[in-house]
Amino acid sequence: MSIYTASTTAPVNIATLKYWGKRDKTLNLPTNSSISVTLAQEDLRTLTSVATSESFTEDQLWLNGQPESLQGERTQHCLQDLRNLRSRIEAQDSSLPRMSQWKLHIVSENNFPTAAGLASSAAGFAALVMAIAKLYQLPDSHSEISKIARKGSGSACRSLFGGYVAWEMGSEPDGSDSKAVEVAPQSHWPEMKAAILVVSADRKDTPSTSGMQHTVATSDLFQERIRNVVPKRFEEMKQAIQDRDFTRFAELTMRDSNSFHATCLDSFPPIFYMNDTSRKIVKLCHQINAFYDETIVAYTFDAGPNAVLYYLQENEAKLMAFVHHVFQKNSGWDTKFSQNDLEKFSEVFKT
Ligand code: ADP
Ligand code: DP6
Ligand code: CO
Repeated sequence: MSIYTASTTAPVNIATLKYWGKRDKTLNLPTNSSISVTLAQEDLRTLTSVATSESFTEDQLWLNGQPESLQGERTQHCLQDLRNLRSRIEAQDSSLPRMSQWKLHIVSENNFPTAAGLASSAAGFAALVMAIAKLYQLPDSHSEISKIARKGSGSACRSLFGGYVAWEMGSEPDGSDSKAVEVAPQSHWPEMKAAILVVSADRKDTPSTSGMQHTVATSDLFQERIRNVVPKRFEEMKQAIQDRDFTRFAELTMRDSNSFHATCLDSFPPIFYMNDTSRKIVKLCHQINAFYDETIVAYTFDAGPNAVLYYLQENEAKLMAFVHHVFQKNSGWDTKFSQNDLEKFSEVFKT
């Protein structure tokens, strides 16, 4: 009996304007629009292979070598949508194998910590849906596949596109206009770089899905965020990207990370994704920008303690000198620079 297979990779995307909150849990429709930057494929990525055969008796997923449930409602929703699309093609061509009726075996590997706030669900569901679409030989529509990935994990819809991506929240009850769109390709602002500071690779204790539902249900600040903060910021951030205005982009990114974590803290009981080290990184970035009297770095934290720093290539040495200096001390993060340290840095960067 034949076995059919397909493989693909999908990159992580890190939001600079955060999605946090669902207005529809089943369709995964958000309470606000969001913006992200998709990282290069050779950095953080998921590699997923899928196989299907008439002889398989159940759908199975191995994630990073461990069996993982495929029974979740949202995963089932994705599989069902993909099977429906496949069965339409099969109905038009009787020579095609009836894969839509068969079970799937899926093997997936993330080359970075899973469920640690580095968008594993985004790369994970994007890769899962893309691999099955390839196996089923579905028409190559990024937009359609992105909507299916969204049902698996909201942030996944943005990983189908490279560069600068917006997820427009939409207003239709069926979610037909809640979709990811390109704001600008990577080539529009190729100097943009991301550095990941892994503070902890542990699985978070509050997954994003339950965390955001808890925030929606209990935080007053959250209402203010989605009504009065995010809509304006969404337009401003798209403009900053269009204008390649790093200072503006960086401030909006840092403010939005802080605003999102503030709503977590305002949830009741509160949710803590950032830890002491994360907060020291925040402080360090502000110190670096103050030191140079110029915004050269922006931090952002997803639902976890790990930092993503955005900066322009031309400032890499300036930024990394500080980061390495602080890391080297190794007895914990020391962001209290002495006058001596500051003088030393200004010597180094005088030229
Ligand atoms: P993260 O911050 O890493 O996105 P989430 O809480 O949003 O964390 O989601 C983590 C969950 O996403 C995992 O527990 C798993 O169910 C799912 N996931 C992660 N990676 C993959 C993958 N490669 N394939 C399928 N599902 C994945
Ligand atoms: C903080 O997309 O992981 O990373 O849709 O429930 O799977 P589900 O949530 P998920 O949430 C991401 C939250 C975030 C911000 C973002 O990526 O926009
Ligand atoms: Co996630």
